[in-house]
Amino acid sequence: MSVTAPSNATSTATITLDATGQSTKLPLLTGTLGPAVADIRKLPAELGIFTYDPAYGGTAACDSKITYIDGDEGVLLHRGYPIDQLAERATFPEVAYLLLNGELPNQAEHAAFTTELNNHTMLHEQLRHFYNGFNRNAHPMAVICGVVGALSAFYHDSLDINDRGHRELSAMRLIAKMPTIAAWTYKYTHGFPFTYPRNDLNYAENFLHMMFAMPSAPYQVSPVLSRAMDRILILHADHEQNASTSTVRLAGSTGANPFACIAAGIASLWGPAHGGANEAVLKMLGTIGSKDHIADFIAKVKDRSSGVKLMGFGHRVYKNFDPRAKIMQATCHEVLGELGIKHDPLLELAVELERIAIEDEYFVSRKLYPNVDFYSGIILKAMGIPTSMFTVLFAVARTAGWISQWKEMIEEPGQRIGRPRQIYTGAGPRDLVSMAERA
Ligand code: CMC
Repeated sequence: MSVTAPSNATSTATITLDATGQSTKLPLLTGTLGPAVADIRKLPAELGIFTYDPAYGGTAACDSKITYIDGDEGVLLHRGYPIDQLAERATFPEVAYLLLNGELPNQAEHAAFTTELNNHTMLHEQLRHFYNGFNRNAHPMAVICGVVGALSAFYHDSLDINDRGHRELSAMRLIAKMPTIAAWTYKYTHGFPFTYPRNDLNYAENFLHMMFAMPSAPYQVSPVLSRAMDRILILHADHEQNASTSTVRLAGSTGANPFACIAAGIASLWGPAHGGANEAVLKMLGTIGSKDHIADFIAKVKDRSSGVKLMGFGHRVYKNFDPRAKIMQATCHEVLGELGIKHDPLLELAVELERIAIEDEYFVSRKLYPNVDFYSGIILKAMGIPTSMFTVLFAVARTAGWISQWKEMIEEPGQRIGRPRQIYTGAGPRDLVSMAERA
């Protein structure tokens, strides 16, 4: 069996595995941070066995230098920088640059990066007509899935994944065009005229401008709201090898073009267990209705036969507070303050729900804490973003992470197609009988 190129991680020890009467030594790899990882790549060839890990809870599928999470401690680092420092002191374009290039930009690099982003905020005019093919009542995630996939039908000059210039151009195009695609999706599904990008505005301001400006009235972007939007984008920019990022990497491992890969990531993000959770949180709060009904709701969640989950709670990796949730909660108070909302029933309901859940034995014993989506929906709703657009916003932000992870994978020497195996539990070999003889 050809084992792929060596991992970037260092091998510090071996573990010995005995199976089928034979034994082998597996290298134990260690990265910069985090637990050691057994390199099982030679198992099928040496012992004729595979490993079984259906939801990948114990499997590292790649080496990466982009994001580190310590789920027990509630730590999230991008290229080594803690998420709270990035959210407080950087902007989304700086974070996108960091994810893509490995370092924060200096002034000249930042100026060049934002100029380049501005050069790509427009969509091909023909793509604008593509929107007309969708039902006006389509879910915005359905629309962006289609429009982003369609980018590969328009930008043929950046589809060669083996050309570094093409990869970089596609990355810039995706990050620059996502706010336009998202805002136009909102406008289309509401029957409003499209607003073109304005390159004198920063990334978050421009997004809000394209969402809310109308030809009939001037629109002034509030600095507090644009800063909150920027922070929301930072908090969603990347999150290691989650379902949608792994989807992007798997699609990309086949050599598919980056626009198609990001469309695949968007489809994966849509589910309520992943990016769709922010929308699901607001629906849940609406269903609970008032603080008086929290106890009944929690009882339903704890009754496993109900199938009801506390949306915005729990995480595959975090077994402690999601550090993004803390920042999101603080931002929520700021935004409501700026908007002059002294009492928001949804926020009050969410705070009470969180208080009750984090003291309840069911959630405590399972280490279920609020995740990034618990408070984001409340902020977005207060900013006037409709619920169906919440996951779209997540996709705008995560595009920076997806494309950085895709680029890292393509640039990895010895990169091969991703191809999991299975345990076959179906019928054994048997002979076909003619239809007349079948029972
Ligand atoms: N409400 C009630 N019970 C829960 C919840 C929840 N939100 N999350 C997990 N559990 C239970 C789960 O049923 C299991 O119970 P038991 O041990 O008795 O079988 C236990 O807690 C451990 O959970 P798990 O099955 O190991 O969790 P997972 O890693 O498979 O799933 C998750 C993680 C995020 C899909 C899940 O926690 C969930 O569905 N949460 C609600 C949806 C949500 O908020 N998603 C957003 C995640 S953060 C943003 C993102 O990644 O996109």
